[in-house]
Amino acid sequence: MAAELGFSTGDATLIAAAISELARNIVSYARKGQITLKTVNGLKRQGFAVIASDDGPGIPDVQQALRDGFSTSGSLGLGLPGVRRLMDEFEITSQPGRGTTVTVKKWRQ
Ligand SMILES: Nc1ncnc2c1ncn2[C@@H]1O[C@H](COP(=O)(O)OP(=O)(O)OP(=O)(O)O)[C@@H](O)[C@H]1O
Ligand SMILES: [Mg+2]
Repeated sequence: MAAELGFSTGDATLIAAAISELARNIVSYARKGQITLKTVNGLKRQGFAVIASDDGPGIPDVQQALRDGFSTSGSLGLGLPGVRRLMDEFEITSQPGRGTTVTVKKWRQ
């Protein structure tokens, strides 16, 4: 989809890596959820948005979850901070007991 929209192969690869990390978190922590991919129009440029949402356990301390190396599952703790670095925009909202939504965007060069 990113390639069809004119993103470079490099950027399409970064978007795919971000989707993969967000999907892995859904499977690991919430078991199920949704990933929505869509185009977004900025003032002068076109973007690609990925919205990963679930109704899982939520994240009690989002700032902590965004730190390199923080993991509650004994994993590397690099998924969320990595996604933040791979993409141009990053937003996360999470409510303990209700779920998590991560919205990320990449703008076409
Ligand atoms: N969708 C989610 N629902 C609930 N908790 C989450 C979710 N995504 C991330 N977390 C919490 O945030 C922490 C950090 O996530 P992150 O993806 O950075 O690391 P990780 O999944 O533990 O390890 P890695 O992704 O490097 O294998 C997780 O350990 C987990 O506690
Ligand atoms: Mg992860």
